[in-house]
Amino acid sequence: MEQTLPSAAAAAGGDGEAYLIRPLELADISKGFLDLLNQLSPSPPLAEEAFRARFEELAALGADHLVLVAEDAATGRLAAAGALLVERKFIRRCGRVGHVEDVVVDAAARGRGLGERVVRCLVEHARGRGCYKVILNCTTELTGFYAKCGFVEKNVQMGLYF
Ligand SMILES: CC(C)(COP(=O)(O)OP(=O)(O)OC[C@H]1O[C@@H](n2cnc3c(N)ncnc32)[C@H](O)[C@@H]1OP(=O)(O)O)[C@@H](O)C(=O)NCCC(=O)NCCS
Repeated sequence: MEQTLPSAAAAAGGDGEAYLIRPLELADISKGFLDLLNQLSPSPPLAEEAFRARFEELAALGADHLVLVAEDAATGRLAAAGALLVERKFIRRCGRVGHVEDVVVDAAARGRGLGERVVRCLVEHARGRGCYKVILNCTTELTGFYAKCGFVEKNVQMGLYF
């Protein structure tokens, strides 16, 4: 049931390796990772020290927290990202649930199947970790995209913000 993080080769697509999908690395702060996340949710600048601290915190969770990025092989810049968190439950005989989070494709790279590739890699990682399902929250405008990735609409999302 245990699985190592997906290798870049395993996640490579059929588009002549134009994009390499691989786990996030510390050096990605200088490859546009934060610019990418800004397209998901505009945030104040993040200091390199804060990025490093969070990276190490997440790395300590091992394969239960995976951030994937897609690197443009021609430019070395990141063109997409997405995350998968594994929740360990008591129900379902201590079952596991995968949560897809923070999927984003650079505006200039959208519409080429990259978002779907990233999501499908995250889903495969969840499957490899023994999850019995994968869930995510999104706006109604994005249900078509996630349907293309194999998801179906279930229930409603509720939130309480601090
Ligand atoms: C949503 C997003 C990740 C899609 O990435 P993408 O690389 O452009 O999508 P893909 O090219 O992989 O699309 C895969 C399929 O979904 C479809 N699709 C993409 N966006 C869609 C949308 N908003 N509504 C319906 N279908 C959509 C595509 O047409 C394609 O279908 P096809 O195979 O029939 O051609 C990207 O638009 C994005 O980063 N948006 C801003 C951030 C965001 O909203 N993230 C999601 C947070 S939940």
